[in-house]
Amino acid sequence: MKLIVTETYEAMSRAAYGVIGSLVSKKKDAVLGLATGSTPLGLYRLMAEDRTVSYRDVKTVNLDEYAGLSAAHSQSYAYFMRENLFRYLDILPQNTHIPNGVAPDPAEECARYDGLLDRLPRDLQLLGIGSNGHIAFNEPGTPFDARTHIVTLAESTVRDNSRLFDRIEDVPKQAFTMGLADIVRAKTVVLLANGRNKAEAVRRLIEEDADPALPASALKQHEDLYVILDREAASLLHETA
Ligand code: GLP
Repeated sequence: MKLIVTETYEAMSRAAYGVIGSLVSKKKDAVLGLATGSTPLGLYRLMAEDRTVSYRDVKTVNLDEYAGLSAAHSQSYAYFMRENLFRYLDILPQNTHIPNGVAPDPAEECARYDGLLDRLPRDLQLLGIGSNGHIAFNEPGTPFDARTHIVTLAESTVRDNSRLFDRIEDVPKQAFTMGLADIVRAKTVVLLANGRNKAEAVRRLIEEDADPALPASALKQHEDLYVILDREAASLLHETA
């Protein structure tokens, strides 16, 4: 594991862009696993601003989507990706993939996504982390060998994510998520965390053994894992405190 502790959110975003930008500059047809949430927004801004890098041959595969929200819904992750990243890049819309939140047959949609993940091995997977240690929407207790599935969101996740909705009742209770088995299949994994409310999950990830109670700990087996933190997210680590 490469643990990088930076001073600020901006420095964390720049460190992440150092990894992703140089990959896409070297490998024009890279396959990127992308994440939503507020954590990667600074990185996405840097990607959008850098006009020297082309995404014409890049493909992207997103981690998750709320069940019941269509790609046109302003709270959907498909909408988030278009608004915060894709519209600024020369990426082709047909090369961007995300689960279909309104698929008529959810089991079929999960199987479709697994097929996609098999066909498009990711060069890099970007991740945030939930305050309870979830990655994508793999909540505590998810088996490490899970593939794409529908989850019922933990109460803490609904609460955390409600800040982006008008009312907590509007937060969907279920979501499609890439499973832990596929997240760890990416060649390189970059996990970002900033802010004090991620510090305990980060501490458990770095200092404790792998355990499904902390889904992010599935990453501990990965051979090319970057954990990039700001000072607050690193504040409970014993060795860097
Ligand atoms: C959601 C997403 C995760 C994300 C997490 C943290 O639950 N499904 O992929 O990592 O929130 O979000 P934030 O970056 O806003 O703290």
